[in-house]
Amino acid sequence: MLHRPRRLRKNPIVREMIAETRLSKDMFIYPYFIVPGNGVVHALDAMPGINHYSTDTLIKDVEKGLKLGVNKIMLFGVGDEKSEDARSAYHDHSLVPVAVRELKKNFGDDLYVVTDVCVCSYTTHGHCGILKDDYVQNDATVEVIAKMGLTHAEAGADMLAPSDMMDGRIGAMRSVLDGAGFVNTAIMSHATKFASAYYGPFREAADCAPSKGDRKAYQMDFRNGNEALREALLDESEGADVLMVKPALAYLDVMHNLKQHTDLPIACYNVSGEYSMVKAAAERGWIDEQKVVMETMHAFARAGASIITTYHIRDIVEKNWL
Ligand code: PBG
Ligand code: ZN
Repeated sequence: MLHRPRRLRKNPIVREMIAETRLSKDMFIYPYFIVPGNGVVHALDAMPGINHYSTDTLIKDVEKGLKLGVNKIMLFGVGDEKSEDARSAYHDHSLVPVAVRELKKNFGDDLYVVTDVCVCSYTTHGHCGILKDDYVQNDATVEVIAKMGLTHAEAGADMLAPSDMMDGRIGAMRSVLDGAGFVNTAIMSHATKFASAYYGPFREAADCAPSKGDRKAYQMDFRNGNEALREALLDESEGADVLMVKPALAYLDVMHNLKQHTDLPIACYNVSGEYSMVKAAAERGWIDEQKVVMETMHAFARAGASIITTYHIRDIVEKNWL
């Protein structure tokens, strides 16, 4: 026999030597949900281990994470001031800018702060944009998204992650940022974000479920891989610095295909439903959590992601799974 692939699987040393994919702490971003108030640490039912934090408790938890090497976080504001036009999303005293200022005051450049930019937690109807006749208006929403992004940049955010899926928002955001002098504020586009049932637990966490209808007129159809590539390359042409695929696990083909067509870094978002399924099965003793999580993280890297946004990263570092 000329080829015996098992030769290179003979013992752990040779297996380590030929491993094609390796993970490091540096690849991970940890998402946080911020709520108004003081002293809040509210556990989320559908996401074991994940909490709502007010800014003061957020600072304490971030500090713990930093000691373990979790130095990149993504902030979601869970607004309590909701309106038709999402105006509380772009005040400079809105939840996220206030938290970003506090974080930067405490940790400076030791912490890399990414902010989610989307209005669904700030609208009465829960849609990711400005609604008219039950349809999310693209260009009006882009204006709001760009304004919201600017308030985050002014507060000191290092990177903005728009998750709305409006057409043209990356270009608009880039020009507003540049116009205001924020040339070094990066944009990680949720380039291909699918209308997905895997966001279920997040909607509770971010209090952003649409009160009527669904998000299919702006988020992508999960049947479409070619369209996903078109979407991502449009964002690249509009100036995105990083392209994200979301959700992650059911979309490994999208990541892999994108990797063949772009030289930009590719990120993935291992979303709430993916996280909670693992947690639920592990709680019942049906799967080995550590093994399943690490197999999954390697799959993302193998598919082409060099950045992984995941709720699992705190367990990974706290329990030394890397
Ligand atoms: C809303 C938003 C969602 C997520 C991130 N931003 C939910 C949605 O689009 O309905 C999902 C994240 C997760 O499930 O972890 N802009
Ligand atoms: Zn949204």
